[in-house]
Amino acid sequence: MALSGSFVLALLFFALSINPLEARGAFDRLARRPPQRTAAEGICASSVRIFGYKCEEHDVVTQDGYILNMQRIPEGRAGAGDMSKRQPVLIQHGILVDGMSWLFNPADQNLPLILADQGFDVWMGNTRGTRFSRRHKYLSPNQPAFWNWTWDELVSYDLPAMFDHIHGLTGQKIHYLGHSLGTLIGFASFSEKGLVDKLRSAAMLSPIAYLSHMTTVLGDIAAKSFLAEATAIIGVAEFNPKSGLVGNFIKIICRQAGIDCYDLISVITGKNCCLNASTIDLFLANEPQSTSTKNMIHLSQTVRDKVLRKYNYGSSNYNMKHYGQALPPAYNISAIPHDLPLFFSYGGLDCLADVSDVRFLIDQFKFHDVDKIDVQFVKEYAHADFIMGVTAKDVVYNQVATFFKRQV
Ligand SMILES: *[C@@H]1O[C@H](CO)[C@@H](O)[C@H](O)[C@H]1NC(C)=O
Ligand SMILES: *[C@@H]1O[C@H](CO)[C@@H](O)[C@H](O)[C@H]1NC(C)=O
Ligand SMILES: *[C@@H]1O[C@H](CO)[C@@H](O)[C@H](O)[C@H]1NC(C)=O
Repeated sequence: MALSGSFVLALLFFALSINPLEARGAFDRLARRPPQRTAAEGICASSVRIFGYKCEEHDVVTQDGYILNMQRIPEGRAGAGDMSKRQPVLIQHGILVDGMSWLFNPADQNLPLILADQGFDVWMGNTRGTRFSRRHKYLSPNQPAFWNWTWDELVSYDLPAMFDHIHGLTGQKIHYLGHSLGTLIGFASFSEKGLVDKLRSAAMLSPIAYLSHMTTVLGDIAAKSFLAEATAIIGVAEFNPKSGLVGNFIKIICRQAGIDCYDLISVITGKNCCLNASTIDLFLANEPQSTSTKNMIHLSQTVRDKVLRKYNYGSSNYNMKHYGQALPPAYNISAIPHDLPLFFSYGGLDCLADVSDVRFLIDQFKFHDVDKIDVQFVKEYAHADFIMGVTAKDVVYNQVATFFKRQV
């Protein structure tokens, strides 16, 4: 069960994918954590109502007992109009961040608020382990068993719980919007057809499902593998980027590889064109968030294996025990229904959702109904521009809203 240290680092910078100049001192700022938007009171109070929007906090319970926090922005600044005409959108964040990551810009630039103003009933997910979803019916986050999951469980439990809740309350089919890992769990889920009866369409920003070219970018660094250090954290169930343990782990990796961590940020994530320095400060004050170490291992398997499979238990015996077969079952992306309306947006400078990987992914949709698939390529965008770019409203979000509105 090898965990590539460089890959863990790469994932950490999913969250910290910022341009190198602005990143200088990022770790210091992480440590200082400026007291802006103390989140104690929840995402609605700290990050939505401050902009004058209505917001409801919801809790949903997954079938395996996790209590997930969601936010609903039921209407825009102009009011709700006819509520029955407002279609629900579920916005799903990526790895090592939570739903708040969509709300760090000024109001008129934030995706959830833009969609609310454009007439949608907006819901935001926060997957298990993130700040407001660290609850379980009988487990505590201090117990290793609380962190015994990977993105397979986000597919089999978190997404269904959120979909059921929204569908139960609104009686309507849902538009899905994912970024990064939020797209991967969407693809995996829709390929198993579990949610497609409640799904109206899906918009995938910085889509990932195949990550093989990411390792090419990292090839040089990956050659110096850090397995000894990695095993030091494998015993720790919670992968908390803000903890001293994981922080030290990352520092050791950088030192051993003889690289400057700050340079690595641009090597790994690409140079984001359009981030606002105040927004980055807010981001670093509130993110990154924990995930499980097991999830990080699963993601490193995803990179290495070049196939989208369930978690590999590390031996054919264990896999046999869990899955009844020697290799973990694969997710078949081509099995996503061909008439599901899909919108892709990917960036030319995104080193995580690498252009060749995204093109390979899109190629899996070659039998998709041609009028059901929209692809947007944004030459100057990198990974974080899609969540926080100051131009994202004009470049991406308005196009997403138009796409959703076309699906009647
Ligand atoms: C950057 O963020 C600050 C604080 O929210 C805001 O006042 C400023 O207008 C933003 N700049 C741009 C270019 O959007
Ligand atoms: C994690 O779950 C697996 C079953 O999926 C079980 O075999 C294992 O003992 C669990 N580990 C912990 C620490 O709960
Ligand atoms: C994946 O799904 C497609 C479409 O349903 C099917 O034709 C193909 O055989 C499947 N591939 C595998 C490996 O199951």
